[in-house]
Amino acid sequence: MSKHRIAWLPGDGVGNDVMEAGKIILNKIKLAAEYIPGDVGWEFWCKEGDPLPERTIEMLKTVDCALFGAITSKPKEEAAKELIPELQNKGYIYSSPIVRLRQIFDLYINQRPCKAYPGNPLVYREDINLIVFRENTEGLYSGIEYHPVPDEIYQALIKTHPKMKKFINVNQNDLALSCRIFSRDACKRIVKAAFKYADEHNFSSVTVIEKPNVIRETSGLMLREARKVAKEYPYIQLWEVNVDAMAMWLIKNPQKYSVLVTSNMFGDIISDLCAQLVGGLGFASSGNIGDNFALFEPTHGSAPKYAGQFKVNPTAMILSIKMMLDYLNEKELANKLEGAIAETIQESKIRTYDMGGNSSTIEMAEAIASKIS
Ligand code: IPM
Ligand code: MG
Repeated sequence: MSKHRIAWLPGDGVGNDVMEAGKIILNKIKLAAEYIPGDVGWEFWCKEGDPLPERTIEMLKTVDCALFGAITSKPKEEAAKELIPELQNKGYIYSSPIVRLRQIFDLYINQRPCKAYPGNPLVYREDINLIVFRENTEGLYSGIEYHPVPDEIYQALIKTHPKMKKFINVNQNDLALSCRIFSRDACKRIVKAAFKYADEHNFSSVTVIEKPNVIRETSGLMLREARKVAKEYPYIQLWEVNVDAMAMWLIKNPQKYSVLVTSNMFGDIISDLCAQLVGGLGFASSGNIGDNFALFEPTHGSAPKYAGQFKVNPTAMILSIKMMLDYLNEKELANKLEGAIAETIQESKIRTYDMGGNSSTIEMAEAIASKIS
């Protein structure tokens, strides 16, 4: 059997803790794979001025997919202070490696399943089975931002947009601009991915979450593309909900929804809300998926204060491994693993601190591994 080539990227903070837990699972299922370690994380920012060194990007071009732990992300001024003295004031600017990876490899789908596993004391209701499709390469997170706003842009805006009147007497140094740019292609492909998923998994609705009544052009484009794609799936309903209302509906009736699709920032926010409905970030997995490459990671951050304590819940990481197995077409292993996770939660003997217990990251992983037949 040919081996899968998987990049192994623990990152920093608790990334290493949860990847160790992942190792226990991968050893147990004996996946035919080769794991290639890669440098990424805070340490490389401080020492090299780049948290995602070029050598890592080159390595990632040679693998089938990657498994990623967690990474610390800080605003640029705070990050700059932590550079080693030799690199201070040399113009290094921190930008989030995970956002860069999504853009470099065109990982346009951010798939975030949020399923309530029965017996989990933290779930909001036991009948929730949602999945968020978040556009992952553009929108407000594309990094096209200015402060101060350069003259050409300021003048062009004043000249072309009547609503710029409000800013006519504001000094450009006192203006910041973050662009929310959507392309038709990106809107189309994320909505297509959501419908394809709904179709393959027998879901009867797809909910597009935007705010076209106010953000008419970008949200409007997403919505129009969604309506076009929906025509190809007459047996799946398209529900259109404004993002603010959706936050409320997800608290009120989360069990009514299944596949959700939205743009980058709304997806970031809504997926955290959905994660909490099914037990919090300890249970939230994600896949960043493109046409030729994918990277799987727990949705949680690096929680530096817990790093190395083997305290955090590895379920999000293990569910991300389940997503990776699906991506690699190892469906049988994926299903067995999910069964073992569900059984461990149902049994509730081993519980990490977030679940009100005091089992360690490793004990939780071992409990799950022991249930894989
Ligand atoms: C996520 C995270 C990232 C994001 C951060 C760490 C850049 O919040 O994956 O949801 O905003 O996409
Ligand atoms: Mg987030």
